This record gives sequence, structure tokens and C-alpha cells, in this order.
Amino acid sequence: MTQTEDKTSLSTEDTPLVPMEKVVALCKRRGFVYPNSEIYGGVSGIYDFGPLGVELRNNIRRFWWWSMVQLNDNVLGIEGSIITHPRVWEASGHVENFVDRLVDCKKCKRRFRVDHLPAENLEQNKCPVCGGELTEPRVFNLMMETYIGVVEGERMKTYLRGEACQNIYLDYDNVLKSSRIQIPFGICQIGKAFRNEVTPGNFLFRQREFEQWDLQFFVHPSEMQKWFDYWKEYRFEWYKSIINHKDRLRFRAHGPDELAHYAKQAFDIEYKSIIGWQEWEGIHWRQDWDLSRHSQYSGQDLSYTDPETKERYIPWIVETSGGVDRTFLNLLLDAYEEEPPSGKDKEGRTVLHLHPWLAPIKVAVLPLQKNKEELVTTAKDIHNRLKRLMVAQYDDVANIGRRYRRQDEIGTPFCVTVDFQTLEDQTVTVRERDGMTQIRLAIDELPGYLVEKVTWR
Ligand code: GAP
Repeated sequence: MTQTEDKTSLSTEDTPLVPMEKVVALCKRRGFVYPNSEIYGGVSGIYDFGPLGVELRNNIRRFWWWSMVQLNDNVLGIEGSIITHPRVWEASGHVENFVDRLVDCKKCKRRFRVDHLPAENLEQNKCPVCGGELTEPRVFNLMMETYIGVVEGERMKTYLRGEACQNIYLDYDNVLKSSRIQIPFGICQIGKAFRNEVTPGNFLFRQREFEQWDLQFFVHPSEMQKWFDYWKEYRFEWYKSIINHKDRLRFRAHGPDELAHYAKQAFDIEYKSIIGWQEWEGIHWRQDWDLSRHSQYSGQDLSYTDPETKERYIPWIVETSGGVDRTFLNLLLDAYEEEPPSGKDKEGRTVLHLHPWLAPIKVAVLPLQKNKEELVTTAKDIHNRLKRLMVAQYDDVANIGRRYRRQDEIGTPFCVTVDFQTLEDQTVTVRERDGMTQIRLAIDELPGYLVEKVTWR
């Protein structure tokens, strides 16, 4: 099964890690991400996505869906609800086990997750910032509570989902019965999850409301290792195909003391950024935990009968679970570059080397001069043709150099310039973002050329 060719064009040599503030500032300035409820002072760990952010998010989601569901005949998709029956979270183990242990510094009042404290501070009960004494650990559940119903006293307490994948187990039997799929097969979903993170931070990295993508792949126990290895590699290659700095990606195996309550084995795909090596996606050996627990708690038999051998068993599950928001953040950290002045660009520029498939705007159409009607009319015609095929922008404000730089800063892979030659021979200049190279192309060839470059295949 092939998913993508590696088409990124940048060299992989190590460049300095991008400071988080640079990306945060760009996101606000150019309309990728805004702090939520900003006019009321904001809410920690919750963000909104602006016009460019939503395009980038949609492209990221679509690329994941394309390579997970569309390319794999044995994988189907669903979209489940955010609120479920509260028993789901008892069965899943989240009510009991989904907790963080916290300590507070008695002197500077800072709060730390015990599992994030350096071993030395933990042993000496000492604050890593001011050296003050730490309190005894306290336990916090991360599930966000909500209520169904309007009548006080009759309202049912439940939870916003703490991990999106639970809907997949809830719908597993329905998918099996309503499609003609047989084990081994997978169910995918992209959806919001909510966690009362005690230490949200690092911009989109650790939020309280975020989006996850999951594959739950159901297998016969004897084939668990084979499929675990298969999806682990598949997901690693997927991430590798969308970043420039390939050497900033690695696997890390979970130690026995850090395994989630449902996992018998787990690997993180990690990315190295300014905040160090951090989890991007988890590959989890969930075994029969989920379907056994839901069978037990619901009273419904979720075992599977093999149509040929008639063997009856609870399927085991390989999970690949990643974050849309972490992908968004890591892609920006990976793509951001401040290029010094050079022969090609005398002023220097900020550029986002985003993969053309994922870039929010695919092409900008620019008349060389705004005050020449024929240039403007032709450029608007081209823009109208292109915007039916891809996200295209028309821009005639400021000189051409500034307009190129504005597009570079948001990662637009191609700029099409309509100049005086266009009026004579119906050709345009196509400028490519990373190398700033330019070619001349007939207007009629433009749609085919660009579609080839900016859509995955
Ligand atoms: N169903 C398994 C599960 O939820 P997880 O490792 O807790 O596993 C999977 O989460 C992915 O979700 C992570 O690898 C990360 O990309 C994303 N994620 C988890 N917590 C997050 C948070 N607080 N903010 C943003 N993304 C988060």
C-alpha cells in the first residue's frame, strides 16, 4: 500500500530551532490562530482559528483522511458525538484512572505535574524554579464534566469526551453490521477532545480543547504484532512526508511506568522543536481492553465470529492517535524560516516552507500594476478560473516584491504575475516560493500545472 511520495523540496540539514514566540506572533498577525475570548482576557489552553488557520487545518485533516481512509480498502470512517452516556467513561477507565498527580511549591506557588518534574527535584521535594519546598502530591481527574437535561435534580452528569476514540468502540458493532467489512479492519475518526489539563501551555501543544485523529484497527490476537508494526511504520512515514527536517522525527518506547491504563505497549512518534523532543502521535497496543470493558459494562456481547473458521473472540486493537493541533503547531515550527537578504531577495524575508498540499493559499494572482486596467482584468479572470479548483487569492496592493513577501510569509507555494508580456502572448510568470525561481507558462496551461503541484496523489 503506498500513501505518498516524499515531495518536500528543502534540504534536511539542521537549522536553528524556531522560537515559539515567532510562530505565535505570525499566527496572530496573519490570522492563523487567535486566543479564545480575547476581549474578556482569554481562557488558558483554548484557541480559535482564523481565516488562514482554518484553511490549514482543513488541509491537514483532509490529507490525513485521504491517506488513512481513502487509500486503505480495509479502513472506514465515522464521526461520533462529543457527549456520550456517562457509563462509557466508567467502562473506559477514565473516571478512575485519567488523572494527573500535582505538587505546589510552598514558596513561589508554582504548580507542577509530578511526571514532569526532574528526578532530582522529586527525590529532594524541591521546586525546580526557586528551590522551595513542594507539597505532597494531589490527584486531579482530567475529565470535563457537563450535564444533560434542564430540570434541577433530574439532570444527568456526564463528560465531554476525554479521548475521541471511545466513539469508535461504541460504533464498532454498528459499522461491522452495516458494512460488509471483516477483521482485520480499521475505523477512523477526527474529532474534538477535552481535558482539564492542569498545566496547559506551549501555545497549541497542550490545550484543554483540542482535536484528535484516531485509527482503531481490529485484529485477531495472533496478528497483533504484525499490524502493530505495520501501522507504526505507516504513521511514521506519513509524518516524515510532510516535514522538512526529517531528522527531527523519532520513535520513543514508553517505559512500563508511563503506559496509559489501556495500553500494554506504546510508542510515541516524537518531533524535536524548541520545547524539546515531544509526543506528536501515540501508537498503542490496546489489546482487548476496550471491547472487553464495553461488553462487560453494557451487557452487550462485542465478540466477533470469524465467518470461515467460526472462531469467536474479542478483537484486539492497534491504535494510532495523534493531534490535529499538534500537527498544526509542529508544521509551522518546522516550516518557519527568516531568510537573510540575498541576491534573490535584497530585503530578506520570512517564509513558511509548508508542503504545497497543506498550504492554506495555493496560489496568488498578482497584476504587475494596479493602475493598468488590462492587467487587472486579465489577473481577475485568471483568479476566477483558479479559485474554482483551489484556494486562490487576488492581490494588487503594494509593489510586486512586497506582495511576494506577504505570500511567502503565509506559505503560498505559487504566485502568478500578469505583466505586459501577458497582454501580447497570453503567458504569465509563475514564481515558486522556496527557490524563488520563475517560469513562463501559457494561461491555458496554468490550471493543469498548479493542480498537479498542489494536490496529493
Ligand atoms: N486515544 C488515545 C489518546 O488519547 P493520548 O496520547 O492521550 O492518547 C493522543 O493523545 C494525541 O492527542 C497526542 O499524541 C497529541 O497529539 C494529542 N493531544 C493529547 N493531549 C493534548 C492536549 N492537551 N492538547 C493538544 N493535543 C493533545
